[in-house]
Amino acid sequence: MPKGTPTGTPTMFWEGYSNDRTLISDNEKGEQMNSLPKEQLIVALDVDDLKQAERLVEQLVGYISTFKIGLQLFSNSGPDAIKMVKDRGGRVFLDLKFHDIPNTVAKASEELVKLGVSIFNLHTLGGVKMMRKSASAARKKAKEVGLPPPLILGVTILTSIDERTLKEELKIKRDIKNYVSYLSSLAKKAGLDGVVASAGEIKKIRKTLGEDFIILTPGIRPAGSRVDDQKRVATPTEAIKAGANLIVVGRPIILASNPLRVVKNILKELGNAQ
Ligand code: C5P
Repeated sequence: MPKGTPTGTPTMFWEGYSNDRTLISDNEKGEQMNSLPKEQLIVALDVDDLKQAERLVEQLVGYISTFKIGLQLFSNSGPDAIKMVKDRGGRVFLDLKFHDIPNTVAKASEELVKLGVSIFNLHTLGGVKMMRKSASAARKKAKEVGLPPPLILGVTILTSIDERTLKEELKIKRDIKNYVSYLSSLAKKAGLDGVVASAGEIKKIRKTLGEDFIILTPGIRPAGSRVDDQKRVATPTEAIKAGANLIVVGRPIILASNPLRVVKNILKELGNAQ
């Protein structure tokens, strides 16, 4: 198991998440690639409709294991989007950031399990009771329907929020690093598998919560690309070197004229960073 893989983590999800640096062959051109980056890089399918998402998945599925379906695509296509990715051999991270009363979130989590998602997330600001009830409902449901339990992550503070917005607008007095670390400890207490946090907070989270906790990092920008609405950004190498287990990249890939080229460059960069 790789460093940072929690004990008790759903084994099926981590199948293929090999730390042995085995070379796998690129089926199109016979180039050799390291298998670890392929598991670490998640592409956000932030597009308007299923057709566009399908084009991206078909182009990238030999190189990417997990695709993220967020609010935009799920609002457009719903469970069909999940089916589309799975039918093409990909895994799904459903990023709906649940935040509601414990009963509602627990019931919704059970539904996600039935859809066969590999990762989903809950907002840590929903509190420990909400997270704990949902995680236990999801795991119980997975057992019931004979599916591997999904990885359940807590969303901390969005990567589009900076220190000023946190303090002046949201009136939260703690600095981002300490607050994200505190919210991460709530997620761990509630029994979640890990958290979503920006690269800047990883070291602090690891120091407080140890290696046995998954950290997934969005707000990733390859050197030289546009930051867009993200505030707390890092390059793929910086995030992985800081200790992220998984990184999420959207616009730098999906808006590129050649998404596959960007993916290959990131995978190469990650291969060198390990
Ligand atoms: O296009 P970009 O790479 O900024 O996309 C980042 C993706 O990660 C988006 O789909 C966004 O919803 C998601 N995300 C994030 N920050 C979080 C959690 C999820 O940017 N804290």
